[in-house]
Amino acid sequence: MADKRRFDLFAELLVTRFPEVKRVFDVAGGMGKLNEALVARGRSCLTFDRRHKHLPVEYAERDFTLDEPCTADAVVGMHADGATRVIIEYAAKHGLPFAVVPCCSDNSMPYKPWMRHLAELGTSLGMTVDEVTLPMEGRARVIIGQRGV
Ligand SMILES: C[S@@+](CC[C@H](N)C(=O)[O-])C[C@H]1O[C@@H](n2cnc3c(N)ncnc32)[C@H](O)[C@@H]1O
Repeated sequence: MADKRRFDLFAELLVTRFPEVKRVFDVAGGMGKLNEALVARGRSCLTFDRRHKHLPVEYAERDFTLDEPCTADAVVGMHADGATRVIIEYAAKHGLPFAVVPCCSDNSMPYKPWMRHLAELGTSLGMTVDEVTLPMEGRARVIIGQRGV
């Protein structure tokens, strides 16, 4: 069972690490709870997920792909599973900062190699990557990437 505090903890980290960011793409956002937590902190947010049942937040009921027009200042994902890799590729394509809290991989890779692979992907795409851990249960490690830090 994932930690219910994860959305507030992640939102708090995002506004602290990216104070200049006004609009966020929340990829694979499920119900839209991260969206709520970001809006409560004065940010605008668009959640992408194929779910039809979700909170009344700004929401695109579709998969997120590299073809999505960019109207955000940052792209993020909490336990985004199959969308985690595309978040990093999208950030690199548009020169945006990203933050992901990886959970399951998209190719059955175990957690630790998956974490290494994602960090290396960010670096190979020209981003400066670092890692922090949220104070919560479960998959809590966050990979953060920015251009030219
Ligand atoms: C483990 S759930 C996490 C949901 C939410 N972030 C949370 O922490 O509760 C993974 C979500 O990823 C979504 N997903 C997977 N690939 C996606 C993609 N390419 N674009 C958008 N959503 C995707 C699934 O529909 C599912 O809701």
